[in-house]
Amino acid sequence: GFSWKLDDHPKLPKGKTIGLIVLDGWGEADPDQYNCIHVAETPIMDSFKKIHDVLAINIGYEFTVHTAPEKWRLIRAHGKAVGLPTEDDMGNSEVGHNALGAGRIYAQGAKLVDLALASGKIYDGEGFKYIQQCFDKGTLHLIGLLSDGGVHSRLDQLQLLLKGASERGAKRIRVHMLTDGRDVLDGSSVGFVETLENDLAKLREKGIDAQIASGGGRMYVTMDRYENDWEVVKRGWDAQVLGEAPHKFQNALEAVKKLRAEPKANDQYLPPFVIVDGSGKAVGPIVDGDAVVTINFRADRMVMLAKALEYQDFDKFDRVRIPKIHYAGMLQYDGELKLPSHYLVSPPEIERTSGEYLVHNGVRTFACSETVKFGHVTFFWNGNRSGCFNSEMEEYVEIPSDVGITFNVQPKMKAIEIAEKARDAILSGKFHQVRVNLPNGDMVGHTGDIEATIVACKAADEAVKMIINAIEQVGGIFVVTADHGNAEDMVKRDKKGKPQLDKTGNIQILTSHTLQPVPIAIGGPGLVPGVRFRGDMPTGGLANVAATVINLHGFVAPSDYETTLIEVVDH
Ligand code: 3PG
Ligand code: CO
Repeated sequence: GFSWKLDDHPKLPKGKTIGLIVLDGWGEADPDQYNCIHVAETPIMDSFKKIHDVLAINIGYEFTVHTAPEKWRLIRAHGKAVGLPTEDDMGNSEVGHNALGAGRIYAQGAKLVDLALASGKIYDGEGFKYIQQCFDKGTLHLIGLLSDGGVHSRLDQLQLLLKGASERGAKRIRVHMLTDGRDVLDGSSVGFVETLENDLAKLREKGIDAQIASGGGRMYVTMDRYENDWEVVKRGWDAQVLGEAPHKFQNALEAVKKLRAEPKANDQYLPPFVIVDGSGKAVGPIVDGDAVVTINFRADRMVMLAKALEYQDFDKFDRVRIPKIHYAGMLQYDGELKLPSHYLVSPPEIERTSGEYLVHNGVRTFACSETVKFGHVTFFWNGNRSGCFNSEMEEYVEIPSDVGITFNVQPKMKAIEIAEKARDAILSGKFHQVRVNLPNGDMVGHTGDIEATIVACKAADEAVKMIINAIEQVGGIFVVTADHGNAEDMVKRDKKGKPQLDKTGNIQILTSHTLQPVPIAIGGPGLVPGVRFRGDMPTGGLANVAATVINLHGFVAPSDYETTLIEVVDH
């Protein structure tokens, strides 16, 4: 039968302290001026690369005096390697941390929704039947991110759902849209609204009363995460449910164009607006008897709204009016909380993650990041599961993120605070695995501010140094990797890799993630001589890291895990 017990690794010892560092948004790309990691001073990360196939060379950095990292290589972090539909899908933190923690590749939300829509199974499920019950008398509201980014949602999926729902009885439809500019180019919101308006016009020709009812920029309206700032969700609630917002327009395209024309405006941070009729009345507040679907498949930035829509007891903000609705998520966002209780597509069932195996095999874990990435090294890492597996074996520490700022203003974020917590955890001797996420490259990269992203990369490198110094002191092992690319490329490029110019001859800043591979470096005084990366895994990806780390803890990985990246040669 099944057992949690892992076999002893034949050559690797137990009990070493492993510092496991995930640099968020840190890919590898050719050096140029838009590669912020290249431009930034990052001596520690550079040093791993320089000596990647020369063992034990002292290259003069503080931490290498005793120990050179044994190896450095690149691994895949996008597309099919992380369970996304195609090789054109850039990586993201959800699928990246899922793969890192679970050690296997699961078809992810984007893919599962595609399949359910293509087969039509989405309409046979309990979730759709549940919302369908309101189609006769109520309105169907669709709330979510309007773009083709494919990280949280996809426009083509929304289009198919609009069509499918209207063919199955929805007579009155309202879309509550959130503009993106973070997983896609800033300014692309206008085109997405045009496409959506076109589709809605076609539905109206068929006699369906369909229109956009409200909107706002994703980072300012609705899509907060990890309870960093409930005000964000409240702004959305006011517009979507109550039909109230500081800006009122009769047309969504005009709304987005006008609000974008304000100084310093961008898609990510557009203020909330509602669409009103000729008499100034909101066209689509959510009322008793309505159906609501949150169309995002990714959990982190939808689960707060899901709580507001579903929970009876709720004290995060004053909801004013709590409509009696039938609510379904595109997916279930939290399997432990069973939230939401109704959903259109079943989420990937990620089970037996490395974290769960480790607690069953006596490995004590410490995990830490700041709020905006805290769930990444815990919830996503553990297969979309909230909380510890065993609080006696694990400690999770969240450092509060700064609230109400864009991170280009504070590009160092909490990198040093995270590193200090990790250092203390390592030196305490209480843990075998000390795992952190350093958010800088990603969170600042998403702002599109190149100068600030360079500062961010330097700060992350300094945090790596602090953690590695602690690992040295306790004779441990470090594993430094990343979840996907971002800061290594800040410009939109043509097919040949040249920066692409817009109509006015300017470069276009890339706020999104990339398709680039990410580095993994392994080293430290606790590493058995003879450990090296295998030469027979040229297509290794993030999912291979879990088995690798399990090996470094002294165990053989479960047989169904993606294979380890390392081998031990006689020394
Ligand atoms: C976000 O939610 O901030 C972006 O859409 C994706 O970023 P992440 O995958 O790095 O969290
Ligand atoms: Co990101």
